[in-house]
Amino acid sequence: MTKIPFARSTGSRIAIAALVGVALVSYAEPGARAGLFDSDKGGVAYQDVTDMLHAVMESDRTVYTRQVIGRLTVKEKVIKASEHFVDEKALPLPAQMFRFGAEMVAEKTDKFTYSLLSLWPVNAQNKPRTDIEKEGLKFVADNPGKNFYGEEKLGDVKYFTAVYADTGVAEACVSCHNGHKDSPRTDFKLGDVMGGVVIRLPIKE
Ligand code: HEC
Repeated sequence: MTKIPFARSTGSRIAIAALVGVALVSYAEPGARAGLFDSDKGGVAYQDVTDMLHAVMESDRTVYTRQVIGRLTVKEKVIKASEHFVDEKALPLPAQMFRFGAEMVAEKTDKFTYSLLSLWPVNAQNKPRTDIEKEGLKFVADNPGKNFYGEEKLGDVKYFTAVYADTGVAEACVSCHNGHKDSPRTDFKLGDVMGGVVIRLPIKE
C-alpha cells in the first residue's frame, strides 16, 4: 500500500500563514509543489497522490462519456442517458456514475474523499461548501489547464485539498446543462470549464 507521508515541511507560505494566523494555504502556481512530502522516507507527495487519483477518475469519466454515452446515445441512438435512468431504463449520466463511485469509495476508506462540484450546479447538492472549494473552483474556471492545491481545516482535521477542472468536452455536456431546467447557467460553450473534481486527503500530523 502506498504510504501517505506524515511530515510537513516548514515552507515559507506555511510559516507566513502561521505567523498571521491564516487557516487556509493555497498553492495555485502551475507546477508548484505542495511541499508536503516526507523526503526522508521517500514518501509520495500529497499532490502526486491527488494527481494520480485524478488521472484515473478523469480517464474513466471520459471513457464512459465517449464509449458508452456518446457512442450509444448520440452515434448509434440505441438508448438514452437520463438522470431518471431507473424509471426510464436509460443510462446513468456521467456525473451520476462519478457520484456512485465516490459514494462507494467513501464506504470503503477514510483515506480520501472526492466529489464533482460546480459554481453553477444543476443539482444544488453539488455546490461548493468550504472556502477552499469555492476558491479552487473559481481558480480552475479562470485559469484553464491549471490545477488548484490548498490546505484547509475542517473540524479538528487538516486536509490537503486539490481541485481539477471538469471541462465540457462534448456537445452533449454543454447542451444538456444549458437546457436543463435546474441549471443556473445557460451559456456554456464547448471547451468551457463547467465545474471541478475536488479530492481531499487528511493530513496526518
Ligand atoms: C443528459 C444531460 C447531461 C449530460 C449529457 C451531462 N450532464 Fe453534467 N449533469 C447533469 C445533471 C442532471 C447533473 C446533476 C447530477 C446529480 O448529481 O444528481 C450533472 C452534474 C454535473 C456536474 C456537477 C455539478 C452540477 O452541475 O450538478 C458537472 C461538473 C457536470 N455535470 C459536467 C458535465 C460534463 C463535463 C459533461 C460532459 C462530459 C456532462 N456534465 C454531461 C446533466 C448532464
